[in-house]
Amino acid sequence: MMTAVRDVPGAHPPGADMDAAPGWLRGLWGFLLLHRRDLALAWAAALLGSACQAVVPLIARHIVDDVIVARTSPLWPWLLLLLAAAAGAFGFAYVRRYRGGRVALGVQFDLRNAMHDHLQTLDQDNLARLPTGQLVARANSDSALVQGLLSLLPIMMGNVLMLIATLIIMIFLSPPLALISLAVVPTLFALSYRLRSRVFPATWDAQQREGGVAQIVDEDVNGVRVVKAFGQERRELDRIVDAAGDLYGSRMRAVRLRARYQPLLEAVPAFAQVAILAVGGWMALNGHLTIGTFLAFSTYVGQFAAPARQLAGVLTVGQQARAGVERIFQLLRLTPTIADAPDAVDLGPLRGEIAFEGVEFAYRADVPILRGFDLRIAAGERVAIIGASGSGKSTVAALLSRFHDPDAGRVTVDGHDLRSVRLRSLRSQVGVAFEESFLFSVSVRENIAFGRPDASEAEVEAAARAAAAHEFIVGLPRGYDTVVGERGLSLSGGQRQRIALARALLTDPRVLVLDDATSAVDAHTEERIHGALRELLPGRTTILIAHRVSTLHLAERIVVIDGGRVVESGTHDELQERSGTYRALLAGLDAELVDELGDRVEVLATLLDENENENENAPGTGTGTNAGTDAGAGGGAGAGAARVGGRPRR
Ligand SMILES: Nc1ncnc2c1ncn2[C@@H]1O[C@H](COP(=O)(O)OP(=O)(O)O)[C@@H](O)[C@H]1O
Ligand SMILES: [Mg+2]
Repeated sequence: MMTAVRDVPGAHPPGADMDAAPGWLRGLWGFLLLHRRDLALAWAAALLGSACQAVVPLIARHIVDDVIVARTSPLWPWLLLLLAAAAGAFGFAYVRRYRGGRVALGVQFDLRNAMHDHLQTLDQDNLARLPTGQLVARANSDSALVQGLLSLLPIMMGNVLMLIATLIIMIFLSPPLALISLAVVPTLFALSYRLRSRVFPATWDAQQREGGVAQIVDEDVNGVRVVKAFGQERRELDRIVDAAGDLYGSRMRAVRLRARYQPLLEAVPAFAQVAILAVGGWMALNGHLTIGTFLAFSTYVGQFAAPARQLAGVLTVGQQARAGVERIFQLLRLTPTIADAPDAVDLGPLRGEIAFEGVEFAYRADVPILRGFDLRIAAGERVAIIGASGSGKSTVAALLSRFHDPDAGRVTVDGHDLRSVRLRSLRSQVGVAFEESFLFSVSVRENIAFGRPDASEAEVEAAARAAAAHEFIVGLPRGYDTVVGERGLSLSGGQRQRIALARALLTDPRVLVLDDATSAVDAHTEERIHGALRELLPGRTTILIAHRVSTLHLAERIVVIDGGRVVESGTHDELQERSGTYRALLAGLDAELVDELGDRVEVLATLLDENENENENAPGTGTGTNAGTDAGAGGGAGAGAARVGGRPRR
C-alpha cells in the first residue's frame, strides 16, 4: 500500500470541533473519523447496553415491592421485562465489543500503514538521522497502546453514562443512601487510578525487559559460532541470567502492587454494601424505605466497582497512549527532503544521456565528497568508474537515483534536472545493483521479481541466467520457491549479489548502474555474467563501478575519480599510457586477483606465442588452439591481456 500518505489525518486535522484539542487527540480523532460508522454503532450500543443494565435493579425493586410484598401487580410482565433487559444487555454488549474492537484494530491498522508508507517516502537523509530499527519497533508497540486505549473507549462511554444514570436513579429513590453510595465512587476511582498508574509502568517495564531477554537469546542463537569460537559461553549465559533476573524483579514488582491494591478495590464496595445494609436496613425497618428500593441500592453499589475501575484504567492507559500517539505523529510529520517538486514532470522513456555538471556534495558539511564533479555519459554508453575506496563512486550512483540532491551543480538525464522529474518515473528507469544487496524473506522468485511483480516465470529465469544465478537457484531445496533472506535460507555473498543483479536486470532499465555488484562473485562466475551482460548492455547506458580489472572490459570508457572530481577519462589503453593515477589504481585493485590473472597471462602468452608460430607455419589453424582452451577462460584471458596492456578485441 503506497497510498494515502498525503491523506494522513494527523497532517490535516479534520473537524473544526477538535481544533482546540491538543495535537495528539486531534490526530487520533482524524483516524477515528475514518471509522465513524463503527464508532457510532459502538457508542450507541454502549449507551443502550448501559441503560439495560441500569434498569435491572429497578425492575427487581418492582417485583419485590409490588408483586411479592404488596401483590398489586402480576409477576409475568416484570419477568418479561427482566428477560428483555438481559437480552438487550447481551445484544448491545456484543455489538459494542465487536464494533469497538473493529474501530480499535482498524485505527491501529491505519496507523501502521501510514507509518510504513511514510517511512517509504522518507529518504536516506531522514532515515540516517533516525534510529530506524528502534523507531519502527517503538512505533509498533505505540500503535498497540493506541489500540488498547481505543478498545476501551466505547466501554468507557457506556460506563460513564451508566454511572450517571445510576446516580440519578439513586438520588430519585433515596437521597441519603445515594450520598453513601456517592462516597464509594471517588474512593474506588482514586484507588484504581493509583493501582493502574503504578502497575502499568511496571508491566511496561517488564515488557521492555522481556524484549531484552529475547534479543540476547536471539543473538546467541544466531551468533553461536562467534560465541563458541571465542569461548564466551559462560559470559553469554551470565548475560541471560542477569537479564532474566531483571525481568523477574520487574514482574514481581507488578505482582506486589496488584496484591496490595486489588483486595482493597474489592473491599471498598463490600464496605459500602455493608453501610447500605446498615442504614438502608434501618430505614426499611422504620418504613422510610421499601424492601425493593433497599435491594436495588445494594445492587447499584455493587455495580459501581467495575466502571470506576475501568475509568481509572482508561486514564492511565490514556497517558501512556498519549506519548505513543505523539511519537507516531512525530514520525508521520517528518517530511522527506527528497520529494517530487509540485511541478515535477513524468520522464518519458529515456534515451539515457546522463550529465553531472559541477556537482558538489557532502554528507557532512565539513567533509566534501564530490567537488566540482563533471561527467557526461552519452546515451547507450558504457562507462566504468574507478577510484580509491571512499572516493565517492557509490555517492555518484546514489545521486543518479536521486537518493540525495547535490549541494551545488546538477545531475541531468536526457537534459532534465533530476529535481524537476517525478521520482517514480526516474527510478523505474534507472536500475541499480548494489554491492550490499538486501534480500527479503520471500522466495527467490519474488526477490528477483521485486521491481516487476508481474514478470513471467520465463522472464525471471532469463534474468537469473544473465546474472549466472539460474544454476545455483535450481540447486536450492525448493528451487525458485526457496525462501531466502533474513528468516530464510542464507546464501553466500556472491549468491545474494547475483540475485540482486537479476532483480536489477529484470526491470529492463534504460540506465543500469552496477555498483560493485559482483564484488563477492568469484572471477570465473563473473566472467559468465559479463558474457551475458555483453548481450544485454548494448543500447543501455551503463555505469560500472569497478572493483576488478575484468569489469573494466565491459566499458567503452573509463573515468577515474580522485579528490571528488573526474581526473581522467579514456580507454584502458589511453589511461594505461598516460595516467599514473590509473596505473596506481589498477595495481591496487583486488590484489588477490593479481596472482590468478598472472597465471592466465602466462597461459595466454604461451598460447599467443604458439598461435604466432603456428600462424607463421600454417595460417588459419591458430584460432582452433585458443578456442580449445577452457571456454570460461576466454574472458579471463582477456582480463589478463588487459593487465599487460593488450585490450582484447570483441
Ligand atoms: N550516508 C553517509 N553518511 C555519511 N558519510 C557517508 C555516507 N555514505 C558514504 N559516506 C562517506 O562518503 C565517502 C564516499 O563514500 P562512497 O561514495 O561510498 O565511496 P566509494 O563507493 O567510492 O567507496 C566515504 O568517505 C564514506 O565514508
Ligand atoms: Mg562504494
